[in-house]
Amino acid sequence: MTAPAATVRDPEGTPVPSGVWVPVAAVADLAVAPVAARAFGVDLAVWRDGNAVHALVDRCPHRGARLSLGRIVASGLQCAYHGWTFAGDGRCLRVPAQPDFQPPEAHRARRWHACVEHELVWVSPAGPAAAPPALGDLPARRVLSGPFTVTTSAPRVVENFLDIAHFEFVHPGTLGEVGQPPPADYPVVPTADGRPCIASVRVWQPRATAAATCGHWVDYRYEVLGAYSALLVKQPEHGAPGDAYALFVLPVEETVSRVWFVQATADTTTPESTLREFQHAVFAQDQPVLESQQPRRLPLDRSAERHCAADRLANAYRDWLQRSGVRYGTC
Ligand code: FES
Ligand SMILES: [Fe+2]
Repeated sequence: MTAPAATVRDPEGTPVPSGVWVPVAAVADLAVAPVAARAFGVDLAVWRDGNAVHALVDRCPHRGARLSLGRIVASGLQCAYHGWTFAGDGRCLRVPAQPDFQPPEAHRARRWHACVEHELVWVSPAGPAAAPPALGDLPARRVLSGPFTVTTSAPRVVENFLDIAHFEFVHPGTLGEVGQPPPADYPVVPTADGRPCIASVRVWQPRATAAATCGHWVDYRYEVLGAYSALLVKQPEHGAPGDAYALFVLPVEETVSRVWFVQATADTTTPESTLREFQHAVFAQDQPVLESQQPRRLPLDRSAERHCAADRLANAYRDWLQRSGVRYGTC
């Protein structure tokens, strides 16, 4: 998980961060037809071919039809308009109206790199130098929630996830209790490669998880995983089952995001539907606040907003974005 490099332009001329992987769909949603997705303002056609997944810019190089309207054939993706067929790497393999024609390089569709991780399809516009965020040693049971579409920038969503001071106001009765502010003097200790991290901060939670029946003190560990992703590991006192939540955000456009959560939990009995409902209820409380924030892009200039001691992780994230050259979704 190296820091993302500076913004580059994709072949369409759209500025996108290089070396950043973002999720675009649940792998379970890829079936017999291609799926239309959008990342960094670029429309993509995504499809599955056995265990491999592919992503092409969603515009046929012939006459500009959407490739996501096409169909999956044995050799690749066939455009719905005149049947030109493209391999996963974008090579044009066949032009039905001219069967003996060997399509040259110039007939290529524009490819983004794609892979599967955490039950999600990930894409990267500028090559596989990095990889989707890894989650390390966490409980094996995984529950995917989302996507939630939110009208704000991806960095605003990540910052909200890293924010411990909103619990008593936005999530009273579950993640926070009125009059129980979390400590503000927690240290932020970067990982070896410089990503912001909190090793432990103790928070009182009336109902920390879907299965909780009473309040607990819960140790929180936060780690920024990448430009648009972060991890929270929760360990309640007295050895109650802990769990972790990875936040993965797709910058659909600079101020529109799609959000997935992957819960890794030691709770082996609570039904998946109950775990998801809890996650939906919590995020439904965050969403109106997130969509109210102005500007929608996250300000990296410290003088643009006011701060308090509890914001030190959020500010460390902003500083890291600044140092890493991430500009998409910021101002
Ligand atoms: S527009 Fe795709 S084959 Fe003609
Ligand atoms: Fe929240």
